Amino acid sequence: MRQTSQISKLTSLRASFAVLSIFALSSIAVPAFAADPAKMAPTAEAKPAVPAKPKVDPVAGEALYNSGDTTRGVVACITCHGPKGQSAVATWPKLSAQHAAYTAKQLKNFKEGSRANAIMMGMSMPLNDQDMVNIATYLSQQTPSQGVAQSKETIELGKSIYRGGIASKGVPACAGCHSPNGAGIPSQYPRQGGQWAEYSYNQLIGFREGTRKNSVQMTTISSKLSDQEMKAVSDYMAGLH
Ligand code: HEC
Ligand code: HEC
Repeated sequence: MRQTSQISKLTSLRASFAVLSIFALSSIAVPAFAADPAKMAPTAEAKPAVPAKPKVDPVAGEALYNSGDTTRGVVACITCHGPKGQSAVATWPKLSAQHAAYTAKQLKNFKEGSRANAIMMGMSMPLNDQDMVNIATYLSQQTPSQGVAQSKETIELGKSIYRGGIASKGVPACAGCHSPNGAGIPSQYPRQGGQWAEYSYNQLIGFREGTRKNSVQMTTISSKLSDQEMKAVSDYMAGLH
């Protein structure tokens, strides 16, 4: 008797956890049953971690991006990433026109620590999944920010790596995933065109050194690149559009 009731308790816990996970992950298309309060609250644990806002809300995302929320400790992203995500400073990546799913994933990864960065870990900590999707969607709707390649000496090397990879070292063409014009391919493959070269270079180093371990593909690719090749391709990507 007792065992049976424990099992059924476990099953219902598991079911409510599944409902919650689906609810948390799919803020774009929340399944109809998630909105049913009777099914949302079968146990005490079922209190939703995310406020019941099933729709993506880029207007709320814009407000949070521009003004933060002092009551929750959210710092205004605009302070570093610039108006509409078009950062004017190389230390802070451009976020405009980036694919929403990619941006939301990064915010999650910073929070969890699979992408180790002290500043962004702090910034993402007070954000819930709905905030992340809202901000990411707002940013994806902004105009891409363009840049220029700075180094004439390495532009040919950068271009050949980006377009053709390095066959002798088994490095695939970056264009294969990040697209020939650097716009990326929704939703997994981020936009690279116009990004600050210093930032991209730091990311390649981070993938290789293991501080950024949120992509098996990029860990493998970066492990085959020399510093000079990373610099050349990063500079080339900054001028891509
Ligand atoms: C104090 C400056 C600062 C503030 C404020 C800030 N960021 Fe950042 N952000 C950074 C830095 C620095 C990086 C680069 C981290 C790294 O090297 O991995 C970054 C990286 C990111 C990235 C990764 C971009 C990519 O292409 O992968 C996203 C997304 C991001 N920030 C979103 C936000 C959001 C959303 C907010 C507001 C809630 C915010 N940031 C507030 C400094 C800041
Ligand atoms: C097989 C597909 C694939 C190929 C080929 C590829 N990438 Fe990537 N790249 C990805 C994925 C996926 C991500 C996003 C990882 C994540 O989710 O954090 C990424 C992320 C990046 C980032 C971080 C972007 C940011 O905004 O933080 C840089 C920089 C990058 N790639 C550079 C390159 C370069 C340079 C090459 C060519 C030498 C290359 N990639 C080839 C799949 C690929």
